[in-house]
Amino acid sequence: MKGIILSGGSATRLRPLSYVTSKQLMPVYDKPMIFYPLQKLLDAGITEIMIIVAPDHCGDYMKVLGSGRDFGTNVRFTYEIQDKPEGLAQALLIAENFLDDGDNVTLLLGDNIFEDDLSTEIKSFKTGAKIFIKEVPEQDRTRFGIVELDSNNKVLSIEEKPQQPKSSYAQTGAYVYDSQAVGAAKAQKPSPRGELEITDLNLWYLQKQQLEAAIISGEWIDAGTFESLYRANTWAREQALKK
Ligand code: G1P
Repeated sequence: MKGIILSGGSATRLRPLSYVTSKQLMPVYDKPMIFYPLQKLLDAGITEIMIIVAPDHCGDYMKVLGSGRDFGTNVRFTYEIQDKPEGLAQALLIAENFLDDGDNVTLLLGDNIFEDDLSTEIKSFKTGAKIFIKEVPEQDRTRFGIVELDSNNKVLSIEEKPQQPKSSYAQTGAYVYDSQAVGAAKAQKPSPRGELEITDLNLWYLQKQQLEAAIISGEWIDAGTFESLYRANTWAREQALKK
């Protein structure tokens, strides 16, 4: 299993904070935001990790994260640039050479903070695709990919930022894929907003009945807005003080 953290984008919703600083390097209590998803990969025993960043911030990431050795003797980081924010599924294309041995891969978004330990779900993954879903309040449902489940928690549909959400479950920024993902992403067409949507990649697996959803019970924060960034800081502080 290899890991990718997608830390691209221009974070327009966080201006003026994001004019100079990459969103995913902003402080969340006592650490840069990206340390939180990174820790999830390390907890799952993943040592080969690609960090995908926007062109403006590549040097900052190298300075903050380095080779990987500070995070473990076997840990190695590889850096790639996403020239334009053209979608989450583009990460698989950017990582094509990195994933050249038919590896499975866990893709985490650099602005997603999870309380749950994802390592059991990541380690038990064999084939297909796995997404992690979490119930969100009604007012947030149009912000995310919304996942409809049947009574056995099997995925029925996923809709990206729907006007009329069919469920309360949002697709979080954690995805595990087998080696079919690169080929599937290559066949994708950009959505109306000009992005290779992760939802479309997940729907590709759903069509083949190879998509599984794991429900998250702890806190999940997509820290991409002022409110959620503030909440992330408060939450991380509470967690740190508990220890
Ligand atoms: C992306 C995905 C969406 C998912 C969200 C999780 O949204 O497209 O399905 O629910 O990440 O953070 P975006 O960050 O592009 O708004």
